[in-house]
Amino acid sequence: MELRQAACFLRHVTISAVLIMALTSCENRTDKSGQAPETKAQNSQVDTMGHQDWETIVEVLLHPRCLNCHQLEMPLINEGSPHIPRVARGPGNMGTGTMQCGNCHSNQNNPVTGAPGAPGWAMAPIELNWSHKSSAQICKLLTTPQDNGGRSPDSLLKFISENPLALWGWNPGGKRQPVNIPHDKLVEAMKGWIAAGTPCPSEGATN
Ligand code: HEC
Ligand code: HEC
Repeated sequence: MELRQAACFLRHVTISAVLIMALTSCENRTDKSGQAPETKAQNSQVDTMGHQDWETIVEVLLHPRCLNCHQLEMPLINEGSPHIPRVARGPGNMGTGTMQCGNCHSNQNNPVTGAPGAPGWAMAPIELNWSHKSSAQICKLLTTPQDNGGRSPDSLLKFISENPLALWGWNPGGKRQPVNIPHDKLVEAMKGWIAAGTPCPSEGATN
């Protein structure tokens, strides 16, 4: 009787030990995120790519062809000089009083007056002012719908892909320098950034 009990006990111990070994070896294959090491490595690679993609995007957003309209109250010209004559945002982003943007800016660049143009020419809405903001702040703004007028990553992608105001940056007319990053590279970067979950630099980042 006693021998059988002892044998039975030993069997239990052995089975438990095997089970524990099986369980711990499973645990080794995953970490707290519940992902196997290989998947995690892949994800962090995508994540890094997302950060590089953001660097490309923000370089375009801060280019004068984009930044000149994404101001607080007044648009800028060329490499960031004041717009002469002085014009201001006004209630509908299209100017004040007799100084309406549409008086001088039409649907296309005007080689005679020198005024650039594209359909819908207006200052960017105030919630999309990114002058004097850091890369981290702009990123946070664009990824926070309650601060940016309810815009989603997909609407950002659509805008930079096809809106005439964005496309104008690659056909600015006159002696203006077009955006230095090719348009298709920007679109690819935006897609990559969205696929990576729109990662932002941390607030302490230097740029
Ligand atoms: C002539 C002024 C002007 C220029 C130049 C301009 N923008 Fe804008 N931008 C606007 C306006 C106006 C809106 C708001 C459009 C809307 O809400 O329909 C806007 C909106 C945006 C948005 C938000 C889109 C959304 O609704 O999700 C992004 C992103 C953007 N601009 C990027 C750019 C980039 C990149 C460039 C340069 C290649 C650029 N803009 C050049 C006026 C401008
Ligand atoms: C009285 C005519 C006039 C009015 C009104 C006017 N503009 Fe202009 N704007 C011009 C001219 C001319 C230029 C070209 C200046 C140059 O390149 O030297 C210009 C240039 C610009 C540029 C520079 C683009 C670049 O990247 O160099 C922006 C942006 C701009 N205007 C936005 C606006 C907005 C927004 C409004 C309305 C709030 C407006 N303008 C109202 C005449 C006008």
